[in-house]
Amino acid sequence: MSIDRYAVMGNPIKHSKSPLIHKAFADQTDQHMTYTSMLVAEPEFEDSVRRFFADGGKGLNITVPFKLRAFELADELTERAQRAKAVNTLWQSADGRIVGDNTDGVGMVRDIMHNHDGRIAGKKILMVGAGGAVRGVLAPVLAENPVQLVLANRTFDKAHQLAEEFMDLGRIEALHMNELKGPFDWIINGTAASLQGDVPELPESVIGAHTRVYDMMYSKELTPFNAWALDYGAEKAFDGLGMLVEQAAESFRKWRGLMPSTPTVISDLRAAM
Ligand code: ATR
Repeated sequence: MSIDRYAVMGNPIKHSKSPLIHKAFADQTDQHMTYTSMLVAEPEFEDSVRRFFADGGKGLNITVPFKLRAFELADELTERAQRAKAVNTLWQSADGRIVGDNTDGVGMVRDIMHNHDGRIAGKKILMVGAGGAVRGVLAPVLAENPVQLVLANRTFDKAHQLAEEFMDLGRIEALHMNELKGPFDWIINGTAASLQGDVPELPESVIGAHTRVYDMMYSKELTPFNAWALDYGAEKAFDGLGMLVEQAAESFRKWRGLMPSTPTVISDLRAAM
């Protein structure tokens, strides 16, 4: 019997934790499968994906910088991938069409709700950023029915445009930084500011004693955003390691029809950081 093959494609890919995560899921659920990482040269992305499936590969995760190209390549898209305009998960349908999905948003929502006992329904949410990371999670967040979802971004126009695009899915509005009226129940950082060791310039009033913050980035130390929020009195701060594992779990579920258990996988990764 041949082994079902899966992989993650990206560039760079050396530090990807996905092979470790999917091996843990496969061991836990007794799935006969392999999952490797593939470094793909920029011009070769589309050919590499097509070759992978033509050679019998079962499923792919797609990471930086190819999520938009995966979205364009897919023959069919799930609704959430269509909204995200980015694809992180691919498989082939029975008739050979390549299907694209985006599991990032559901991954973040599950991390907040199941691993951090957080509610989104009825809560005031501030989402910071207006790039691909934020676009990717908006539909699943709105699906939980927050009472208010405010988008704030350094470049206001991008937030405004994004809010217009998602207005049909729920209560979402873009505000200028100086118009923000806190405190919010959740502040989610989807900016790339942490990469430069930076924190978006939010007014302190967005934080109250019961504000929880979530940084989509993760790191061994507190992320700059989480450190800033705790300094100003936020109740709790979480990073995106759980989101990484939960998006992988959702991909695994789509491919294998089984939902793996995530808490020990998250804590093992944390311990190894
Ligand atoms: P990604 O796909 O990771 O979301 P992106 O599309 O380049 O990357 O978006 C990056 C986001 O981080 C944007 O919202 C960006 O703000 P601008 O739209 O004003 O560029 C935000 N960002 C990046 N560096 C930042 C910084 N130092 N301070 C505040 N926001 C920052």
